[in-house]
Amino acid sequence: MVEFNCNDLICPLCGEPLVAIGGSLLCVGRHTYDVARQGYVNLLPVQQKHSLHPGDTPEMLAARRAFLNEGHYAPICSDVIAALLRQGEPPCTLTDVGCGEGYYTAEFAREFPTARCIGADISKAAVKMAASRSKQISWIVATASHLPIADDSMDGITAMFSLVCEEEFARVLRKGGIVVEVTAGTNHLIELKQIIYDDVFEQHKHPKSPQGNLKEISCELRSFRLKLSNAQLRNLLQMTPHTLRVKPENRAQLEATPSLSLTVEYFVRVLQK
Ligand SMILES: C[S@@+](CC[C@H](N)C(=O)[O-])C[C@H]1O[C@@H](n2cnc3c(N)ncnc32)[C@H](O)[C@@H]1O
Repeated sequence: MVEFNCNDLICPLCGEPLVAIGGSLLCVGRHTYDVARQGYVNLLPVQQKHSLHPGDTPEMLAARRAFLNEGHYAPICSDVIAALLRQGEPPCTLTDVGCGEGYYTAEFAREFPTARCIGADISKAAVKMAASRSKQISWIVATASHLPIADDSMDGITAMFSLVCEEEFARVLRKGGIVVEVTAGTNHLIELKQIIYDDVFEQHKHPKSPQGNLKEISCELRSFRLKLSNAQLRNLLQMTPHTLRVKPENRAQLEATPSLSLTVEYFVRVLQK
């Protein structure tokens, strides 16, 4: 039987705490959720699911795993860990929302080995893949807008290139807890876009100011350079939504590019409750 830590989890239907009994999670309202043999739990009720297979395709996930496993985005991970540490004590409870195939969640759990870590994503395929990275993390299928996580329970929430739902994150964070959010900057992967699109319009990107119970502590624009081989470039294209939009002739051009130097540019923003 797969062991599953459900300490901070609540029933997505009635909000009561979940307890682990014989390979399932149960609440007092008798709602039951089975722990899959891969070690994750689906806590996304049908009424919160807006499409049959939400999230990235299996091909996108496989490309993301291959690319991230090579460590190209390790500096982003280090920036987020530094931001989590800058606020004082290392987090005891941490949720990575929109965890995808789990690269960053697993790195955070390695950095904070005594923390209770949750990896949450709306895509079941992503969470199933993520579960193979670590048995110490509570992997859940869930939506960022209705997290099945207790009020005031998290020291930290990370959102790596994924959705931030301010009100919901504020509910789940303890007082003083922080969100570390990473979003793409204006020049992120600009050299790739110049190959795959006929015209690249400059879209000035900056995270919007928070509206509710979270206040912005810092927002830093960071960047570094990457030199990628042809195989790495193909993976990079395949792991992003650009792969769904690119014209065949532009894809062919990228596939004929032997190597490319790229700008990785991103905001690391810290919001506090
Ligand atoms: C660009 S990917 C980033 C994945 C991962 N954080 C990374 O950087 O490798 C965005 C992720 O957000 C997930 N996602 C999209 N909408 C979501 C929602 N409403 N709730 C939770 N996850 C969501 C997608 O399934 C996808 O895995």
